[in-house]
Amino acid sequence: MLFQLSEEQQMIQQAARDFAKNECLPGVIERDEQQKFPYDQVMKLADLGFMGMMVSPEYGGAGLDTVSYVLAMEEISKIDASVSVCMSVNNSLVCYGLQQYGTEEQKQKYLVPLAQGKKDGKLYIGAFMLSEPEAGSDATSQRTIAEDMGDHYLLNGTKNWITNGSTASAYLVMAQTDASKGSKGINCLIVEKDWPGVTIAAKENKLGIRGSDTTTVMFTDVKVPKENRIGEDGFGFKFAMKTLAGGRIGIASQALGIASGSYELAKEYAKTRKAFGTEIMNHQAIAFKLADMATKVEAARLLCLKAAWEKDNHMDYTLSSSMAKVYASETAMWNSVEAVQIHGGYGYVKEYHVERLMRDAKITQIYEGTSEVQRIVISRSILK
Ligand code: CAA
Ligand code: FAD
Repeated sequence: MLFQLSEEQQMIQQAARDFAKNECLPGVIERDEQQKFPYDQVMKLADLGFMGMMVSPEYGGAGLDTVSYVLAMEEISKIDASVSVCMSVNNSLVCYGLQQYGTEEQKQKYLVPLAQGKKDGKLYIGAFMLSEPEAGSDATSQRTIAEDMGDHYLLNGTKNWITNGSTASAYLVMAQTDASKGSKGINCLIVEKDWPGVTIAAKENKLGIRGSDTTTVMFTDVKVPKENRIGEDGFGFKFAMKTLAGGRIGIASQALGIASGSYELAKEYAKTRKAFGTEIMNHQAIAFKLADMATKVEAARLLCLKAAWEKDNHMDYTLSSSMAKVYASETAMWNSVEAVQIHGGYGYVKEYHVERLMRDAKITQIYEGTSEVQRIVISRSILK
């Protein structure tokens, strides 16, 4: 077994590291305070080819592997998880779903600009809409209705907590067509933000990833042409689950970045801060915290890379992506709390970045399936 990145993967990692340092770090505290969407950063990510990293060049993507995606997500998330969540949703939920299950017409019309992150020089990104006020973890309980009208669907309902909700141009919306069929009555429809009947409701005021755009989106009698359905009638829930298996690799890598960013800041601080006549790293209580943080980062990274490798090798990665997500997100939380502790009072103020990492870490245990949901997926898989 070779634990070595290819030259191309190392180049992508370095490009993402440079991008995070040069483009994301300046202004990250202000964007968090002011809840400002990182528009310039996302436009530059698009120029780098990072908004459609795994999409084939035939459809405007960079044609890279999932391992490269994990490496890039980790580097960007060390600095700004509000940028990386936008990147993750576009890459692994929206572009992946369209590339894998979309028709040729859907790919030409929607995937090409989504993978490029731009259309006519303007931002063009996507959103993935599964959650509703009454259907979060219990995702089959969809209340949004896509009524079959023959040549089109009539879409009515409310989706909440939508990442990129107001900035996205194209939405992948899960909705119930035939409730009597349960999860097999759900469809996934491609909806454009500008269509009549689409309303963007209030933006959420969040604990963390405050620069990311999280809104409720409502649909009132939205006419969606039949050709905008992804897959066969009733494929929508399976589509969502299959797509989320890859999405969870993205969020696991985001959590990994928050965990490794926290560790790196804490290590540097411990080398310079003095107490009782010596650098605090020389106190074993601090050195042991750093040892645990480093070990957890390594384990989380290996889980993320294994899930990515399985995906790249066309194996079933559902179990490994849930394992990566639950472990990396719990490590992000643990490491970021310890990073604040190692910084003492300085950790509690914004200039040192670790308090933001701690606030950002929490969401990784909630979205794309809570830690409890990941344990449902894992336990069902190992016990079946
Ligand atoms: N691949 C293919 N099919 C799958 C599947 C998978 N990974 N997982 C489930 N299915 C199929 C099942 O086989 C079943 O079909 P059959 O009846 O034909 O066997 C059908 O889907 C229903 O599955 P379950 O009976 O397992 O459904 P459940 O009600 O027990 O729920 C669950 C399972 C894992 C809890 C699921 O509901 C779930 O993942 N919930 C969490 C939802 C979630 O992750 N939301 C994230 C929203 S996006 C987001 O959050 C983005 C962001 O923040 C940035
Ligand atoms: P609930 O499902 O009500 O869960 C509440 C608690 O009960 C949790 O701890 C949960 O783990 C636990 N629980 C529920 N069922 C079980 C069970 N069977 N066993 C054990 N414990 C259980 N969704 C999208 O579709 N698209 C997005 O882009 C998106 N972005 C998001 C961005 C943010 C910032 C946030 C906060 C959420 C986002 N979500 C998005 C929604 C997210 O996926 C849901 O919040 C998440 O799936 C949990 O659903 P819920 O909030 O309804 O919690």
